[in-house]
Amino acid sequence: MFDNFEDVYKYYVVVAQLIERIFCPKKILKTDAYNESVESMEPIASIFSGDVVILELYSDILENAKRRLGDKIRWFLGDIRVLLDEKFDVIVDFSTIDHVSPEDMKVVVSNYKNMLNDSGVLSVIVWTSNKNIGEYVENDCYNQFIVDRSYFEKLLDNNFDIWFAKELIFAPPHEKITELCTLVHYLCLSKKGKLYV
Ligand SMILES: C[S@@+](CC[C@H](N)C(=O)[O-])C[C@H]1O[C@@H](n2cnc3c(N)ncnc32)[C@H](O)[C@@H]1O
Repeated sequence: MFDNFEDVYKYYVVVAQLIERIFCPKKILKTDAYNESVESMEPIASIFSGDVVILELYSDILENAKRRLGDKIRWFLGDIRVLLDEKFDVIVDFSTIDHVSPEDMKVVVSNYKNMLNDSGVLSVIVWTSNKNIGEYVENDCYNQFIVDRSYFEKLLDNNFDIWFAKELIFAPPHEKITELCTLVHYLCLSKKGKLYV
C-alpha cells in the first residue's frame, strides 16, 4: 500500500517490468498514451520488447506520445469501448477504464477478454469505492469515474477465470472528491487460458 502518487507511478513501472520478464509477451496492447505523452513520466510502453499497440482517444495526447517514442509503437486513435480486430498476449490498462461509465466498463472488460489470446493476461488498474460515487469531470478530457468495487469484480468474474487484486492507495483521486476511494490493481487470466499445463 502506498501513501503518495509518486510511488504509485513507480509501481506502474514495476508492473510493466514484471509482465515483460514473467510473461515475455510478443504482442501487447497498452490503453491510453498519457504516460508516454508526459515528458516527466516514464514511458511505460517502451519497457516492452514485443510489438506494442497503443490505443488512445485523443489525438493531441497521441501526437505528443508519438513525437516522444516514434515508430517503435503502433499507434491507434480509438476508443477502448470499440473492439480492435487483433489479438494480444497481454493488455495493460493503467487507469484508462475508469474514464468510461460503469455501464460501458461491461463492454470494455468483455472487449479485453475477446482481444486476448487463449492464455492472455489482463493487467488493469481502476479507481473503486464501496459507494456509488459516479463521475467526476476534471476537464474536457478526463472524465473520471469511480466504480463500485463489487460491481467491477463481478465483471471480472464474468469474463476471467482467475484474478487477484492488490490495493494500491486509499485516497480521493481528485481535490473535489471528499470520499476515500481505493485504487486497485487486478491481474486477470483469460477464461480460455490455463496457468499451468
Ligand atoms: C488522465 S489519463 C490517466 C491514465 C494514465 N495511464 C495514468 O497513468 O494516470 C486518462 C487517459 O485515458 C485516455 N482515455 C479516456 N477515455 C478513453 C477511451 N474511451 N479510450 C481510450 N483512451 C481513453 C485519455 O485521453 C487519457 O490519456
